[in-house]
Amino acid sequence: QLGHSGRKGSSKKPWEKEELPKSKQWNLFSASPISFHENGIIPTEMTISEMDSIVKDFEIATLNAEKAGFDMIELQAHHGFLLASFLSPLTNIRTDEFGGTIENRLKFPLRVFVAIRDNFPSQKPISVRISATDWAENGISPEEVLQITTAFKNAGADIINVSTGNTVAYQQPQMGRMWQTPFSDFVRNEVNIPTITAGSITDIDQINTIILNGKADLVALGKPLLFNPYFVRNAQAYENFEPTDVPNSYKMGIQPLFSEEKSRRKMTEEMKKALKPKSHK
Ligand SMILES: Cc1cc2nc3c(=O)[nH]c(=O)nc-3n(C[C@H](O)[C@H](O)[C@H](O)COP(=O)(O)O)c2cc1C
Repeated sequence: QLGHSGRKGSSKKPWEKEELPKSKQWNLFSASPISFHENGIIPTEMTISEMDSIVKDFEIATLNAEKAGFDMIELQAHHGFLLASFLSPLTNIRTDEFGGTIENRLKFPLRVFVAIRDNFPSQKPISVRISATDWAENGISPEEVLQITTAFKNAGADIINVSTGNTVAYQQPQMGRMWQTPFSDFVRNEVNIPTITAGSITDIDQINTIILNGKADLVALGKPLLFNPYFVRNAQAYENFEPTDVPNSYKMGIQPLFSEEKSRRKMTEEMKKALKPKSHK
């Protein structure tokens, strides 16, 4: 991922209690001078020459990513970071050519995207991660989300990673199982572009349902992979999918997982059937 933290910079680490002391804070810039937290640092409104310099930084970061051998880049235009701050009407109140209409709010994020695309090999894909709602009144609208994603698609984005929120501290997200997937479904099927979805997707049945129903092209896992790094191995066993990348010396070790997952799946399916009303059996 390549990104700029914008007005969310100069902050303590999430696990630290104390705010950064004044001596350790640095100046921020954003689309408009609105702080993220009520008592947070007020960023300055980005000037054109600051935009020029940030575009150069993104170009250098892209070349570095290619040199380091990355297969793909994802541009952070989500979660209230610098580019997202231009897109949302809650964080962009500029009166120049970079504020107001969605076409204007898109100008700087699109300029950064084009700079990345021009400096990354054309056969390598680029994703753009967006927030498809701000979970707050007067935030980004569904129509604007379509305009944003269509604009990135036309500029050469290969896939859109459809996240939501984290634009403003007072957001009211409605979370639950697979809670962000409807937004991916919306973008994928209205704009006709591949999408990635993430957010409380915790088992292989959910993943298969999302993919088979055409709600996303890729499912990204955050926390489930952190607390179960063998999630994918378990899913392979559950699906009785023979992996081709297990070293010979480990093969005997992984075999029992296949029998265990097979009987676990049988049990779950029998339980689901037993719980169904008679009319659905
Ligand atoms: C420890 C941690 C670090 C994360 N870092 C990033 C990040 O650098 N960029 C990003 O776009 N999302 C980041 N996320 C958010 C995830 O991409 C994802 O949207 C979120 O965790 C919801 O998915 P999950 O329910 O599978 O965890 C992070 C999440 C966690 C838990």
